[in-house]
Amino acid sequence: MKRAAGSVAQGEVSGPAGLNAIKAGGGVGEGQMKRESVSKSILSHLKLGRGPGRSLQPLQKYADRSAGLQATNRATNRDVVGRLTRQIGQLQRRQRHAQADTIMGLLSAVEAKDPYTRRHCQRVAAYAEKLCEVTAQNAADTETIVIAALLHDVGKIGIADAILTKPGALTTAEFEAIKAHPGIGVAILRRIDFLRPLLPLVMHHHERHDGGGYPDRLNGARTPTGAKIIQTADSIDAMLAPRSYRRPRSVGEVIAELDRCKGTQFDPMIAEAAAAWLATHPPVSADAASPE
Ligand SMILES: [Fe+2]
Ligand SMILES: [Fe+2]
Repeated sequence: MKRAAGSVAQGEVSGPAGLNAIKAGGGVGEGQMKRESVSKSILSHLKLGRGPGRSLQPLQKYADRSAGLQATNRATNRDVVGRLTRQIGQLQRRQRHAQADTIMGLLSAVEAKDPYTRRHCQRVAAYAEKLCEVTAQNAADTETIVIAALLHDVGKIGIADAILTKPGALTTAEFEAIKAHPGIGVAILRRIDFLRPLLPLVMHHHERHDGGGYPDRLNGARTPTGAKIIQTADSIDAMLAPRSYRRPRSVGEVIAELDRCKGTQFDPMIAEAAAAWLATHPPVSADAASPE
């Protein structure tokens, strides 16, 4: 009599009932016959027999072939992963070079406008890097802060030469015009996708701890740490650099100023760290701070 596939003939036992029959069976007789029937049923599902002429050889061959294929797949996967890793590395190196070229291009534009401002940006970046170190900023934040410091005054490209390079003190109207440079800088940089994290730092590098700075009069609690570091680095360089209308201050005078203005102009923790660093290190030069 034909049976539907998967059905069990009377007297055969399969599934849990079969297992129960095996457990219950004992000795020769009906239990023995049931156990043999169950074994045949399970083996038939595995497409294998265990009688004479049929052995576990096919299973062994299958296992050997499977192991060989797995080894080949592993080797192929290693090749693919290795190739992709190398390609990603090349792309990242190319991307980093393109980003560095973009930053250098912007700095060249600053130089074309005013060479003094470019050298100032390089020195501020060098001071900012030191301040990141002594205030324990992580590597990613340090990179963002240093690049923002390099580009913090890029907005001065949009300030009239007569104001930017004026040898004497600025009038109130001229100072109001200068106060536009953080916003102009952000307008320039926001077009460049990888520089977007810098925008708040560039925008707020002239805020003060007491909220008396510009452009948004943010106090210390609302000003990004990176902007506070750049603001301190910016002031250190402004005080130490010679200008045609005043002599440079000494390192001792700058340390005293950082101490006097901590909590008002400067973030106290950053000002103290900066003063401690300046007390034990020589001021940076534009050449030492060159990103080239
Ligand atoms: Fe500035
Ligand atoms: Fe500056």
